Amino acid sequence: MKTWTVTKFKECKGGTKLATITAYDYAFAKLADEAGIPLVLVGDSLGMTMLGYSSTIPVTMEDMLHHIAAVARGCANNTLVVGDMPFMSYQVNLEEGLRNAGRMIQAGADAVKLEGGACRAPLIKACVEAGIPVVGHIGLTPQSVNVLGGYKVQAKTQSAAEQLIADAKALDEAGVFTMVLECVPPNIAKAVTAAVSVPTISVGAGPDCDVQMVVLHDMLGFTERTPKFVRRYAEIGDTVKAAFGQFIREVADGSFPGPENTYAPAAVDLTGK
Ligand code: KIV
Repeated sequence: MKTWTVTKFKECKGGTKLATITAYDYAFAKLADEAGIPLVLVGDSLGMTMLGYSSTIPVTMEDMLHHIAAVARGCANNTLVVGDMPFMSYQVNLEEGLRNAGRMIQAGADAVKLEGGACRAPLIKACVEAGIPVVGHIGLTPQSVNVLGGYKVQAKTQSAAEQLIADAKALDEAGVFTMVLECVPPNIAKAVTAAVSVPTISVGAGPDCDVQMVVLHDMLGFTERTPKFVRRYAEIGDTVKAAFGQFIREVADGSFPGPENTYAPAAVDLTGK
């Protein structure tokens, strides 16, 4: 069993706050596992961060399964791996959603995440009954960007805030072990956190959630534009560009490879060949 289990994660409610990230490949997953990150989400944000799409909409089950398997190999000892169910892998009907959730677990995920409020309760119940832990996701749900009219802060009006709390309670009752609140005003996220029995995960929902989550590429400085709610903890993009530049210069001026990068000459005679 890993150090972090779904049961242990649930116990963080109201206690020491947890830091979680997205991860998409073996190398970063292994670093997260070694650093003590309790949970990584193999987010469908990989459509943008890894595949270069402009939204999560084109991401397929096959894309997700490929990346989940790699992350699961990296998070072998400690970190929980959550597979994000991509657009149209669970919206058509319950049977298809349940089967696709199962494929994610078979690929190596410890749990799945799906977007949506009370309307997802039947699928969440079916997954939990089948032994699949589920993470909810309400507030800004990027797979519905075309209905929402853009990537905007949600639950800003009285009725929208009340609806968000009702959805959060429905997810809680249906059996999620935690839920993401994305782009929600901090006072509303605080009210949701008080209204549910499971930890809430803030993605741009302020400091009063039980858990914070950031997209790996944003917090490490891979991306040019950083959302307001992200702090950049490193400037890896600049570091990588500087390393590429130095490599180009050293190959051009002949200083790479040096003798320390070169094997000993072979004792053969090639004169006249
Ligand atoms: O895909 C993703 O990375 C997400 C998080 C931002 C919650 O859904």
